[in-house]
Amino acid sequence: MSDVKKIALIPGDGIGKEIVPVAWEVVKKATALKLESKVFDLGAERYLATGEVFPEEIKEELKGFDAVFLGALGDPRVKPGVLERGILLTLRFEFDQFANLRPMKLYREDLTPLKNLKQLDVMFFRENTEDLYIGAGGILKKGTPDEVALQELVQTRKGVERIVRLAFEWAKKEGRRKVTLIDKSNVLTYAHDLWQRVFWEVASDYPELEANHLLVDAAAMKMVLAPETLDVVVTTNMFGDILTDLGAAVCGGLGLAASGNINPDGLSMFEPVHGSAPDIAGKNIANPLAAVLAGGMMLDHLGDSLGAKLIDDAVSFVLNEHQVTPDLGGSLTTTEVGKALEAYLEERR
Ligand code: NAD
Ligand code: IPM
Ligand code: MN
Repeated sequence: MSDVKKIALIPGDGIGKEIVPVAWEVVKKATALKLESKVFDLGAERYLATGEVFPEEIKEELKGFDAVFLGALGDPRVKPGVLERGILLTLRFEFDQFANLRPMKLYREDLTPLKNLKQLDVMFFRENTEDLYIGAGGILKKGTPDEVALQELVQTRKGVERIVRLAFEWAKKEGRRKVTLIDKSNVLTYAHDLWQRVFWEVASDYPELEANHLLVDAAAMKMVLAPETLDVVVTTNMFGDILTDLGAAVCGGLGLAASGNINPDGLSMFEPVHGSAPDIAGKNIANPLAAVLAGGMMLDHLGDSLGAKLIDDAVSFVLNEHQVTPDLGGSLTTTEVGKALEAYLEERR
């Protein structure tokens, strides 16, 4: 990688278009890296105007970037899946971003709706390129009483092994104590039997780390009753999607949940966990902190751990000063929160 880091900005739809510009200014203030950016107008507007979802030349062009910073995709005017699958999942799949890292971190004690939770710092490793998400299936006799709908769950040994190994490697590097597999191996006796076998094989290479297992239904309960008993979690694409929204809720909501779609040897992409939030889009009230924290994950990935730490500190600062948007009980706008973060960083960097 050269001295200048090239970042592709894909604001996308709804609040994505409001939070990305704000978060991007914050990222630039926090980092010592030289960043260069280009905005790509993928999303509903382009699709509705031209019929194009994700032109091939943009996919080609993205290969020349060091990272993608994305807002959200999905628009009520467009059939569900067209943009989500056609842009977001295409990016994750075609760039083989097999690891979706989703931290579940409590920034301020009173942000959790749970009683007696003082602190929390769990990392989810969600498999990101397989499972029910691959889009294999079909519909027979559509619209008739005999209609049949198939959606296939596919897991490969390579696909499972690489995410499980990455979770253990990360846990070891970060000095964590435990890795938990969350699956449904009591029912999905083929696909999740593979997860079981691979998980315990890989775990035996890491005797210094505790390894354990939870069934997904019990895990959902545990995430509410005792989330602090989790440390590093590895799970499937579908379960990871659901459980990380639950995880976000435990830590103060989707306005604070960040994620990284990682290809350790290729192009990675950083985005908030939340979607385009059509119910609040266009009002400048979306919480930009999830996108800002995703920007911090991006800086860390690009080698600027100090920039990432500064972003974390800046987010803690605005949260502790109650400079927040309505979702967290504040009255600031998206842009005002951005300015508060920038002002904090101006004095520090
Ligand atoms: P959503 O995450 O967009 O919104 C769920 C709820 O959380 C809404 O009430 C919304 O107002 C609130 N919310 C989300 N982000 C917020 C923020 N930053 N600040 C304040 N409030 C916030 O989920 P949804 O409503 O189920 O989906 C809306 C659209 O987004 C759909 O088209 C869906 O497919 C898409 N989606 C995209 C992504 C993505 O691009 N990564 C993720 C999830 C959903
Ligand atoms: C997410 C979203 C996506 C997913 C959708 C929009 C395809 O919900 O990033 O969590 O299911 O992965
Ligand atoms: Mn989701």
